[in-house]
Amino acid sequence: MSKKRLGIGFIGAGFITKFHIRSWVGVRDADILGIVSRSPESAQKAADLARRLRVGQAKVYASVSEMVASPAIDALWVCSPNYNRLEIMEEIVHAVKSGTGEIIGVACEKPLGRNVQEAQKMSSLVREAGLLDGYLEDQIFSPSVVRGKEILWTRGAATTGRPYLARASEEHGGPHMPWFWEGSLQGGGVINDMMCHSVEEARFMLTPPGAERSVIKPRKVMAYANCLKWQIPDYAEELAKQSDGGLDYLNRPAEDFARAVIEYEGEKGEKLLVETTTSWCYVGAGLRLSMELLGPEYSLSINTLDSNLKIFFSRKVQGKQGEDLVEKQNAETGQMPIVSSEEIEYGYTDENRHMVQSFLDGTRPRENFTDGEEVTKLLMAAYMSIEEERTIIFPPEGLEDFIPAVAKGEWNPQKKA
Ligand SMILES: NC(=O)c1ccc[n+]([C@@H]2O[C@H](COP(=O)([O-])OP(=O)(O)OC[C@H]3O[C@@H](n4cnc5c(N)ncnc54)[C@H](OP(=O)(O)O)[C@@H]3O)[C@@H](O)[C@H]2O)c1
Repeated sequence: MSKKRLGIGFIGAGFITKFHIRSWVGVRDADILGIVSRSPESAQKAADLARRLRVGQAKVYASVSEMVASPAIDALWVCSPNYNRLEIMEEIVHAVKSGTGEIIGVACEKPLGRNVQEAQKMSSLVREAGLLDGYLEDQIFSPSVVRGKEILWTRGAATTGRPYLARASEEHGGPHMPWFWEGSLQGGGVINDMMCHSVEEARFMLTPPGAERSVIKPRKVMAYANCLKWQIPDYAEELAKQSDGGLDYLNRPAEDFARAVIEYEGEKGEKLLVETTTSWCYVGAGLRLSMELLGPEYSLSINTLDSNLKIFFSRKVQGKQGEDLVEKQNAETGQMPIVSSEEIEYGYTDENRHMVQSFLDGTRPRENFTDGEEVTKLLMAAYMSIEEERTIIFPPEGLEDFIPAVAKGEWNPQKKA
């Protein structure tokens, strides 16, 4: 591989693209040189941010194909909504296969697909075009997760036995855009949106350092979901208003709370457990990510809201609502924890550094579309478990064709007998 520096193009210019752009101040050997979005105005804003932060002389392109055609662009970051993943990937592959342009790789935000079929199609498309593939699961690159895993495995597990229980949870008060709340567009509710992080982070923690993720094998999935807050009439009305009447949570909700237990079989046949909880109905300071890893003589715990930086504003401090203190912030006064560098702490900086390095080296990133597919399979098994109210032996029959009732607009816990 002769390239020494990569030109990166972003597809989508919303919330997550801006997170990635901010993280880029800690990424070497790559510049953000292109942005494509639905509207040129939001693409321009993202390009301006990249230029302002000096992470690349980003230019707005009119289409994905045009960006692929540019000799300046070597790799793409797919950060558009879940409902047009495949369409975007098809356009990339068509542009590459037809000789419109040459790129090295594609990195795609979570979830890889809204269901197993879509995730598998994403994988087969990237293979068809001969591209390297990265699955953007930031949390397995979070410094606390990575460092915690390293210490716990080298000291605790090496002398007293491997960890057997991983608990992971991600909670906040609900997504920032209406499409996330609509099951058919997003693919589900909080399970698809956020449990994907917890499932992968827990799987990563339970896997011995340096081993393939496939050394631990999922055997059973047991899950539960409900819509605890957003079907309360006042809150359902709030969602309807925010979406110009598009969202109808009284009749067509998505789950805002879920938990799942996944039983794995370890390298020596031992039973390992993952316990995840996730919700869009947590009202605290803001986004709360927590993780625990337990073994015979040790434990680890992480909680992103246990920050060492806290500020206090008395009731006389009046200001605009914002997300300047913590992601998905719920208040502007009182005692507030501050995550001083969210881009680093949630894992974006190290994630992007790893993807860039892998693409430059011509090697497949260690978090790739195969992992995205595995996560999707586990999430779909969780939806199956909820719908059938039973433990699913993994992999269940029919998993590849399964579409959750939430995604079909047919799920409503209020109407259940
Ligand atoms: N890793 C994480 O923790 C994390 C966090 C948040 C989101 N995500 C994932 O990232 C993806 C995007 O989420 P988001 O929060 O950034 O959503 P968002 O704020 O709604 O932004 C989506 C962006 O995609 C653009 N877009 C829509 N259709 C497009 C198309 N056909 N071609 C190109 N651009 C298009 C939109 O354009 P306009 O602005 O022009 O309307 C918008 O800029 C989702 O898959 C989500 O699951 C991951």
